[in-house]
Amino acid sequence: MDNIVMITGATGGLGRALALDLAARGATLLLHGRDHERLESVAEEARRASEACTVRTHVADLADLREVADLAERVRADESRLDVLVNNAAVGGGEDPTQRQLSAQGHELRLAVNHLAPHLLTRRLTPLLSEATPGRVVNVTSAGQAPVDFEDLMMENAYEGVRAYCRSKLALIMSTFDLAEELDGSGVTVNAVHPAHLMDTPMVQQSGFHPLAAVDEGVGPVMRLISAADVEGVTGRYFDRFADRRAHEQAYDEEARLRLRKLTEELVGS
Ligand SMILES: NC(=O)c1ccc[n+]([C@@H]2O[C@H](COP(=O)([O-])OP(=O)(O)OC[C@H]3O[C@@H](n4cnc5c(N)ncnc54)[C@H](OP(=O)(O)O)[C@@H]3O)[C@@H](O)[C@H]2O)c1
Repeated sequence: MDNIVMITGATGGLGRALALDLAARGATLLLHGRDHERLESVAEEARRASEACTVRTHVADLADLREVADLAERVRADESRLDVLVNNAAVGGGEDPTQRQLSAQGHELRLAVNHLAPHLLTRRLTPLLSEATPGRVVNVTSAGQAPVDFEDLMMENAYEGVRAYCRSKLALIMSTFDLAEELDGSGVTVNAVHPAHLMDTPMVQQSGFHPLAAVDEGVGPVMRLISAADVEGVTGRYFDRFADRRAHEQAYDEEARLRLRKLTEELVGS
């Protein structure tokens, strides 16, 4: 595979498994993580998986929009094209679901890391993706979706961690549909995928859920959107594993999408 693929949140769980799978296929990998040591350790594993693969690493805390913008700038400075961007990094419900947390900019943390960060990163990297024909954006979302509450976007009232996660994931699906429409015909496709149900990863373990699937089960559905020929040209879809499914109804409400997009653009400053 001669594709250049960027994966956010490659330090553990699904992101690491995707990185190792792609490394074995000889891809050029841009691996992102927030912890330098753990990122370099995954990068070394990937390099050992195949001599044909090339790995470059990028550290950034996605809970800080300045670091997200800086990450995009560094990638744009280093690369001449990007074939695939996999927005995989995310924060789950958290160990204590009653504890509301904030990003560096004071935004509710799950909304910030799971929606605002990939929104900003993708938009800043769109010129590089456009250099690839075709370019693909794969947003790792979830079957766990809850409608965004426009009266309380930052969940200042009745905060609950899993609900915050589910709202942020639907927000990312809405952003997926918007960007797919915008880029229609440009050669860049944008899709969202629920990889697998309750994979055995730190996110699931920390939230206290009993894992029901191995991490590897989530790799196939995401790999398909990264590289399979059968989805070439397919854009603006939500996949539940391999099935093209309908997301939560709010994602098809044009007014809600426009409202979220305006708020998102104000928050990320783009
Ligand atoms: N596990 C499941 O059953 C399941 C189900 C549906 C969807 N998903 C989705 O699959 C994706 C991968 O999840 P996972 O289960 O593999 O979770 P995970 O093991 O917790 O991995 C999440 C990744 O995101 C990174 N991350 C979190 N906060 C970050 C921040 N502020 N800045 C930079 N990186 C950050 C983590 O970095 P650290 O290593 O530094 O923490 C880690 O690399 C997520 O989008 C998740 O929503 C998972």
